[in-house]
Amino acid sequence: MGQEKIVGKPVLRKEGVAKVCGMAQYIDDLTLPGMLYGATVRSSIARGRILGIEFGEGIPWDEFVIVTATDIPGENEIALINHDWPCLAAEFVNHPEEPILLLAHPDRHLLAKAVAAVRVRYEEWPAVFSIEESERRDAVVWGEDNVFKTFLMEKGDVDAVWSQADRIVEGEYATGAQEHLYIENNGAIAAYSADEGLTVWGSLQCPFYVHKSLVKMTGLPEEKVRIVQVETGGAFGGKEDYPSMIGGHAALLAMKSGMPVKVVYDRAEDMAATTKRHPSRVRHRTALTRDGKLLGAEIEIALDGGAYSTLSSTVLSRATIHAGGPYYWPNIRVRSKAFATNYPPHGAFRGFGAPQSLFAIERHMDHIAEALGIAPDELRRRNLLKPGQTTTTGQVIQEDIDLDHLMGRALAESDYHAKRERFARENAGAGMKKKGIGLAAFLHGSGFTGSGERYLNSLAAMDVTAEGKARVLVSSTEFGQGTNTILCQIAAETLGIDYDAVEMGPPDTNVVPNSGPTVASRTSMVVGKLVHSAAVGLKKTLMASGLLREGYSTGEFVTAARTYVAQHGTLRSESRYEAPPGVHWDDQQYRGEAYAAYAWAVYVAEVTVDLATFAVVVDDFVAVQEVGRVLNPVLAIGQIEGGVAQGIGWALYEKVVWDGGRMQNNQMTNYIIPTSQDIPPIRVFFEERPFGHGAYGAKGIGELPMDGPAPAILNAIAHATGKQFDSVPLLPEDMFRTMAVREPEREAVAL
Ligand code: MOS
Repeated sequence: MGQEKIVGKPVLRKEGVAKVCGMAQYIDDLTLPGMLYGATVRSSIARGRILGIEFGEGIPWDEFVIVTATDIPGENEIALINHDWPCLAAEFVNHPEEPILLLAHPDRHLLAKAVAAVRVRYEEWPAVFSIEESERRDAVVWGEDNVFKTFLMEKGDVDAVWSQADRIVEGEYATGAQEHLYIENNGAIAAYSADEGLTVWGSLQCPFYVHKSLVKMTGLPEEKVRIVQVETGGAFGGKEDYPSMIGGHAALLAMKSGMPVKVVYDRAEDMAATTKRHPSRVRHRTALTRDGKLLGAEIEIALDGGAYSTLSSTVLSRATIHAGGPYYWPNIRVRSKAFATNYPPHGAFRGFGAPQSLFAIERHMDHIAEALGIAPDELRRRNLLKPGQTTTTGQVIQEDIDLDHLMGRALAESDYHAKRERFARENAGAGMKKKGIGLAAFLHGSGFTGSGERYLNSLAAMDVTAEGKARVLVSSTEFGQGTNTILCQIAAETLGIDYDAVEMGPPDTNVVPNSGPTVASRTSMVVGKLVHSAAVGLKKTLMASGLLREGYSTGEFVTAARTYVAQHGTLRSESRYEAPPGVHWDDQQYRGEAYAAYAWAVYVAEVTVDLATFAVVVDDFVAVQEVGRVLNPVLAIGQIEGGVAQGIGWALYEKVVWDGGRMQNNQMTNYIIPTSQDIPPIRVFFEERPFGHGAYGAKGIGELPMDGPAPAILNAIAHATGKQFDSVPLLPEDMFRTMAVREPEREAVAL
């Protein structure tokens, strides 16, 4: 570390100038000749049978392209893990806003009128709208028992610990849905001809996910389906699965009409119809010694998966594995379930189950601290994982971690101890504004869970252009987080040439190999490593050809590459994933190396709670993390700041108001996210301990910062007010109900 010229430097974003100058083309900037606009007729009920569809008066229906489930050439399915999510509802609907029918027309305005003129008649069936209703099977809405997936993860002998425990502490924690609110809504354009096949351009994360899904849905051969990612204005997991839906809709309309079709959602439709973060309920029962040693735990996790199984099993898996937090547990049992309800399917969202279970453990640790009369930081210190110990899946910590040091740094940077003491003293006074400081310690696994990376079997490549520029070929996409930049940095560093002499290949399934989906904090560590190996291969070939000699300049590289291409036609190098040694996973027992590496963090939040208004202001935020090598400090800090802001939103602002399974506040005027006014200084610190099997030592970073803010903030609120709140979002009205209203009045307020 330290010798690199490009890695670790704040080089400019590859696509930054195009974005800043307004030249970047997003999906709604694109128009194809003869293009129609597509729109979706959606279910107005939560659950039932479709009895009939009527086309109302006053609309020239013969001008419209109309698509229903019967027009689907292949299988009526969004291809993910199970086979239950239809592209268009055929006979039954299972959530409000479920797509039933598609319309296309050249006139966007007439299209909107036509959507409103379609009437669907239903026989309504009972539906369930909470984990509890689903668990009780008030109605069976999916499979035999409403359960999408169950995991059992066990270590040691939990049943034996209760009798040895000095104390047993229990708690229940809950988190709500969260809307991604990427700046750019979902959108896609499709074009089809019998000769060329189908092309879909979209705002998306995972071109090969969409490819797989559309091959299945259209019945076309793989080579006749081409997916192209266009500039994408944010995603956060929200464009992991849904682009297969909207891209599928555009494709069906294009195939039926023979014309290109654009489907772009407005904000209200995007918020009401697309996926959100899984709501959760987590129960803890912990056995402790008097001096705060964790003896064992029973943890029960329930996620609300919405109406179809989508990615719930993998979200649940990550929630399960992260449930014990960054602590050593000699004995633990985690049981987890993802339940079906009649909300639109909940999906991938930054953190992917970990924020839910880490919120629970980190609030629970503060409850334990209070119950035992031990300071929250001291309780954690006594239990933090150390090298050589095993995680909850039995994975031996091989990395040279020092979580005690990480915590010490976070406490020092935030002046935690002095403030903890001073706030407690000042809060005893008569003032209405109370201050508090709280912390959270956590971890986040990098890359796919367990054998996931082996199954993905990712392939990355590099080639050179006719002009002699080196080119990175991956299906990993840029959606604001910095993929283009860091992968070009890795390639340039490895080739020993200028950053400007490396470019990204187009994110087009016809051009790039499948380097896997752009998810799960895997791009820097896993794909970055593949790009590194591909670059090594490229350089070797050029050296072996005699065109390049050690100590070459960028100019000499370009000349050599150009000459090689002129002589041989192409110059290309590929690299396929190989698991780091010692990474083994048993999917049946849920034991082994759950992740090749973890990132670690300690966050401290300082808050002021106004007892007159119950407004909470986050005054200061310290984020200390160990993410391996930082490839680009500006982008890395940006990732942490953005994740913390999103975490503050999840904790204090973002409440999805549901009624009958439909989001009621699907506008930015009343689904409130924090703005720059609401965000404190976020002070970001990195401890760099390079990971031997990541690109230049990088580990995952993208999801980590979503995990810590909510528990740190609620711990700080408990310190400020002396009241324990165990669910998020925590809005002023929620605090008001608990703190300002006397018991008999509480029910009235709740109504
Ligand atoms: Mo992500 S939430 O792994 O797209």
